[in-house]
Amino acid sequence: MKIKFTISMAKKIYYGSLGTFILLFFALSFHTMINLPKRDHRENLTPQVAKGKRIWEEYNCIGCHTLLGKGAYYAPELGNVYKRRGGDSGGKEFIRAWLKAMPIKIKGRRQMPQFNFTEKELNALVAFLRWTSEINTANWPPNIEG
Ligand code: HEC
Repeated sequence: MKIKFTISMAKKIYYGSLGTFILLFFALSFHTMINLPKRDHRENLTPQVAKGKRIWEEYNCIGCHTLLGKGAYYAPELGNVYKRRGGDSGGKEFIRAWLKAMPIKIKGRRQMPQFNFTEKELNALVAFLRWTSEINTANWPPNIEG
């Protein structure tokens, strides 16, 4: 039997798939909007974390670093630095010591400036980087060195 492909058949395929994909688009957008707040654990956003974020912006850390993949590629990813450097047993001490020790002045190695942060500012930055490290990023970056 010979089947003829008519204009009306073509139209049905066109409108049918258009409708399906428009529906799919809205369904997936809705799913993302419902799920994102669960993943960024915003209930743990304390004033100290917010202060750390402000310092992060004020001192333009992102001008050299990336945070969850966004930023500059001069220096390491910091979204997971808290976990990379020991998590709750060591992450805080490492980040504080690191920020105090800069610049290390080893020849040929990229340098980070000294910002002369106060104790409060250091703790706020640690709180911010700890909070960031706990965002559910679906296991991104794939390796701990970021
Ligand atoms: C001028 C560029 C520059 C700026 C601005 C900068 N950094 Fe860095 N940072 C670096 C470089 C380069 C390294 C890696 C140095 C090395 O490995 O010797 C680094 C490393 C680090 C590390 C250690 C990373 C690891 O994997 O152990 C931390 C933590 C850090 N920076 C935090 C910050 C914070 C917080 C700010 C903003 C207050 C900031 N940096 C701003 C250049 C910068």
